[in-house]
Amino acid sequence: MGPFTMEHRVVMAPLTRMRSSEGNVPNEMMAEYYGQRTTQGGLIIAEATPVSPYGFGYAGSPGIFTQAQVDGWRKVVKAVHDKGGFIFLQLWHVGRQSHPLLQPGNVDPVAPSAIQAEGDAYAQTGPVAFGMPRALELAEIPGIVESFRQGAELAKEAGFDGVEIHGANGYLPDQFLQDGTNKRTDAYGGPIENRARFLLEITHAAISVWGQGRVGVRLSPSSSYGSMHDSNPRATFGYVAKQLDALGLAYLHVVEPRVKGNETIDEDAEPVAVQYLRTLFKGPMIAAGGFHLLSAEALLARGDADMVAFGRAFIANPDLPRRLRDDLPLNAYDRDTFYGGNAQGYTDYPFVGGQIAMA
Ligand code: FNR
Repeated sequence: MGPFTMEHRVVMAPLTRMRSSEGNVPNEMMAEYYGQRTTQGGLIIAEATPVSPYGFGYAGSPGIFTQAQVDGWRKVVKAVHDKGGFIFLQLWHVGRQSHPLLQPGNVDPVAPSAIQAEGDAYAQTGPVAFGMPRALELAEIPGIVESFRQGAELAKEAGFDGVEIHGANGYLPDQFLQDGTNKRTDAYGGPIENRARFLLEITHAAISVWGQGRVGVRLSPSSSYGSMHDSNPRATFGYVAKQLDALGLAYLHVVEPRVKGNETIDEDAEPVAVQYLRTLFKGPMIAAGGFHLLSAEALLARGDADMVAFGRAFIANPDLPRRLRDDLPLNAYDRDTFYGGNAQGYTDYPFVGGQIAMA
């Protein structure tokens, strides 16, 4: 994959775990968690990480806009590099999937248009219904693009191997893309050429820092997570894939619509998104969403993707690549400890043979 020599095709999907320290600073426990999940020549995409204090929807997420955060991430990167793995950082702005309790000065969250989503943000005090967002002024958009560029730069300073733009799951770039959430009449709304502008600008900004082959983009076509919808997802995401194809990305990362955010909604659905976008995007492709050993192998054998990302299975199985290689049973995941808390349900899932220690 670009400048990287991968040893296998099992990718760790980006997973919000809300376990950073005060100031949204990554800590030793996070370094241990990522280190446990590292394999020689394997790719980890670190959890969604806001590029700005206004980009949070989950308290306890790590950030990438202060020096302390850069220093914290260095420990995580070292744990992964010490074991010969690669690690990208997922750059995030939640847009409307937030609440004033998660915003500096308790201001309203921002979005392309003032349309509220259904669902909950995670404040320090617990879940709170998403707030009514304020539509971004045209003049504010360059500042947000700049915060993505700065996040890309700080990720480089922290030692990451690359960055992934979080264009999926109904967060800010996705809110611009889809016409259910973008009712703007300026250069960022209306036809898909305009709705894709924000995502393409932040992708270009990241490439201006990293160059080609080290910036990935994640999309979730047809996912309704975060109250998302589009009148013509095939045209919308087809256009985006085609545009991204020209940029020399590290990869395009596609979440199948059979998964909605963090849960499977249609166990029996075949992967479709990756199959369609593969015809438009010619670079490396990562498929995600509800894969198991056999379905992942079948997908790779068909040539519909180059790698498969696993989320929930990687939470519960620190040695997932080995278990898949040797067809060993998997630990079950515990949903109650997904978001926030301590080492329980985080660094204490057993490796094959029962041991927990990473050595
Ligand atoms: C997620 N997912 C997710 N996606 C993303 O792009 N950024 C993120 O930070 C998160 N956070 C997150 C947290 C938790 C606890 C879960 C379970 C999921 C979605 C994830 O990357 C993946 O797309 C889904 O979990 C579907 O893949 P699996 O679990 O079926 O392999």
